[in-house]
Amino acid sequence: MRILVVGGGGREHALVWRLAQSAGVDRIFCAPGNAGIAMEASCIPADIGAPDEMVALARTLRVDLTVVGPEAPLVSGLGDAFAADGLPIVAPSSFAAQLEGSKIFAKQFLVDRGIPTADFAVVESLEDIDAHLDRFEYPVAVKADGLAAGKGVIIANTRQEAAETARKMLAGEIAGGAGRRLVFEEFLNGEELSFILLCDRRTYFIFPPTQDHKRALDDDRGPNTGGMGAYCDPLILPVELRDAIIDQIVEPTLAGMRDLGHPFCGFLYCGLMITSEGPRVLEFNVRMGDPETQPLMYRLEGDFAGLLATAASGSLDASLVQWREGPSACVVLASEGYPGSYPKGRCITGIPEAETLGAKVFHAGTCIQCGHFATAGGRVLGITAGGATLAQALDTAYNAIEKIHFDGMRFRTDIGKKGLAHH
Ligand code: AMP
Ligand code: GLY
Repeated sequence: MRILVVGGGGREHALVWRLAQSAGVDRIFCAPGNAGIAMEASCIPADIGAPDEMVALARTLRVDLTVVGPEAPLVSGLGDAFAADGLPIVAPSSFAAQLEGSKIFAKQFLVDRGIPTADFAVVESLEDIDAHLDRFEYPVAVKADGLAAGKGVIIANTRQEAAETARKMLAGEIAGGAGRRLVFEEFLNGEELSFILLCDRRTYFIFPPTQDHKRALDDDRGPNTGGMGAYCDPLILPVELRDAIIDQIVEPTLAGMRDLGHPFCGFLYCGLMITSEGPRVLEFNVRMGDPETQPLMYRLEGDFAGLLATAASGSLDASLVQWREGPSACVVLASEGYPGSYPKGRCITGIPEAETLGAKVFHAGTCIQCGHFATAGGRVLGITAGGATLAQALDTAYNAIEKIHFDGMRFRTDIGKKGLAHH
C-alpha cells in the first residue's frame, strides 16, 4: 500500500510513524510534512487547501489511501474531491465537516437531534450582543463560528468582557473572518474528555479515551492553545460513562448525519465536558486531536493502515488493531510566546538522548537549519511515552524532556495530573 498523509504537525508525525509499522505499507508520503516526518516518509510540498491539486498529487504518487490530519482541507472539500475522483480517503464530506467548520451549524444540529450540549445564542450583529447577554450567567464562552486554529474561544468572566470580546470578534479583530458570526455559550463545569471515533459511514470504532490540556500554563491558567499535552488512560472512562456517551451522543450524531444525507466517514472527535449531570458536547472536530493522536498512536498495535483502508471503503474491521497495555502520555514543548507570536530558527539539541530514555519524540514545528533540527512553529515537539501506570508514563516523558534544549523552551509541568487523581 502507498499512503499519503496530509498535514505537517505532531499529529501527522505520530500517524506516519505508526503507519510505517503496518506490514502492508510500502511507501508513505506526507504533504507537506516537517523535519521529523522526513526521517520516516517522503515529504512533498503542496497546497493542501486546494482539493484539485491534492487529487492530482494523489494520482501522480499513485497512492492507495489518503489520510488527512488538519481540519481546514476537510472543510474546503478535500473529501468531496477525492470521492468524486474515486480515490480512497479517510475523510468526511465538506457538508459533514461543518460539524467542526461552523459552531453555529454544530450547535443547531445538537439541539435538533436532542444531544446534550450547553445552552447557546447566535450573534450576528452588534444588536444581538445586548439582546442575548442577559440570558447568561458568568463566566460565559464566546466562540467564533468559523475555524480559528484553537484561538476562537474566549471565556469571558463578566458581561462587560463578553460584550467587548464579541464586538472585537464581529469586527474581525480576534479571530479574523472566523468571528463574523459567533455564539455565546453557557459555561460548563467538569472535566474534559476527548472521545474519538473512526467512522466508515455505517459503523464506528472507538479510540481509548484521552484528555488534552488546552491552556498554556500549569493548573489550566493562561490562554487557550492548540493543546499542551495529552494522555491516554482507560481509567478515565468508566463503563457507565462510555455507555452514556454512546447512547446520548455518538449514536444520535451519526444517525443525524445519515438523515442529512451525509453519513459520516473519517475521524469524529467529540470534545466533551463531563458535568455532574452527565456528558455534554463542547465541540466536534472532524479529525483526530493534536496532541491526543500522539499518546494514541504510541499505544496502538497491529495493522493501522489496514484499519484506515477498511474505514475508507465502508467495511471497517476493528479486529485489525489492538492496544498496548498501560497508559501513555505526551508533553508538548512549545516556543516562548506561544500561543502568541514566537521566534523561529532556534537550535534543538538532545533528541537522541531523550529517545534513549524510552520516549518517542514527535516533531510538530521543526525544520533543518545548518544540518541541525531547529524550531519552526509554536508547538515544536511532543515527548511521548508509555508505562505500566500513568505515573510511570509521565516520569519517562518528563525525564526525557530534561535532555532536550532550545532557547525559550516552554512546557507544562502538570500534564496528566487530573488523570493521576483517578487512580
Ligand atoms: P472548543 O474549541 O469549543 O472546544 O473550546 C476550546 C476550549 O474552551 C475547550 O476545550 C474548553 O476548555 C473551553 N470551553 C469551550 N466551551 C466551554 C464551555 N461551554 N464551558 C466551559 N469551557 C468551555
Ligand atoms: N487537542 C485539541 C484539538 O485537536 O482540537
